[in-house]
Amino acid sequence: MDDDRTVRIAADPEELHRAAADEFSRLADAAIGERGLFSVVLAGGSTPLGLYSLLANDPRYRDRVAWEKTHFFFSDERHVPPDHPLSNFRNANVTLLSKIPAPPGNVHRFATELDLAAAADRQERSLREFFILDPAEFPRFDLVFLGMGKDGHTASLFPGTAALGETARLAVPVTGAGIHPARITHTLAVFNHAAAVVFLVSGSSKAGALRAVLEEASGSDPLPARMVKPTRGTLLWLVDREAARDLRNH
Ligand code: 6PG
Repeated sequence: MDDDRTVRIAADPEELHRAAADEFSRLADAAIGERGLFSVVLAGGSTPLGLYSLLANDPRYRDRVAWEKTHFFFSDERHVPPDHPLSNFRNANVTLLSKIPAPPGNVHRFATELDLAAAADRQERSLREFFILDPAEFPRFDLVFLGMGKDGHTASLFPGTAALGETARLAVPVTGAGIHPARITHTLAVFNHAAAVVFLVSGSSKAGALRAVLEEASGSDPLPARMVKPTRGTLLWLVDREAARDLRNH
C-alpha cells in the first residue's frame, strides 16, 4: 500500500459527508488564512450531493466558511446545458451554490453551451488565466473532491480512454462507446498537482473497485482512480463501511 495515502472508513454516508465537510472547512480556513483565497474542485455524480447540502445548511459550515473568498471548479462535466438534470454544475448549484453568498464570478463551470472541443479549450484558457500559469505549468488547487465509479473511473477519466494518457492539457473532451452524454474532464495532471485530493466513495456497488484501487498489486493497466496520486499533496480516501466491505488491510 502506498504510505502517502490515508483511508478513513465512515460508518455511513452521513458520517462520510460530515468528515468531508470538516476537511473542506479546515482546508478553506488554511488557504484563506495563508493566501486570501480557497480554490476547490467539486466532484460530480451523486455521492457528494449530501456533502454539498450539509455545507449549505449546517450553520457550522454555512456560517463559518468565507464563501466570498472561495472559488468553485468542477472535476468534470457532462456536455449538457447548465440547467440539465445530468449537469454536475446544476446539481451543485441546487444543493450548495445557490444557497451560499459566493459571488457568481467565483463559480467556474465548464462552458457546456459551447461545442465539446471549444468547451474544453475554454476551460483550459480560463484555468490558465485564473492561476496565472506559464504554458508548461499546472494549477495547484487547494482541494479536489473526486468520486469513483464501480469500474474505477474518476471524474470522466474512464479505463482505456485517451484522456488518461494526456500529460500536457488541463481539460479534454471525452467521447466513446457508452459515454453518453459526452464529457469534458480535467486531466490526471491537474488532480496530481493539487495540494489535497479527497475521494468520496459510498455504497456496496463500489466495494470491488475500491479493493482493486487500494489493495491490489499495481499492474500495467491501473484503474484511473488509482492513478490519482498528488505529487506534492495529500490523498485522503473517505469511504463508508459498505464501500469498504471487501477491504482486507484497512
Ligand atoms: C461524474 C463524476 C464521476 C462520479 C462517479 C461516481 O461526472 O459522473 O465525476 O466520476 O464521481 O461516476 O458517481 P456516483 O457518486 O453517482 O456514484
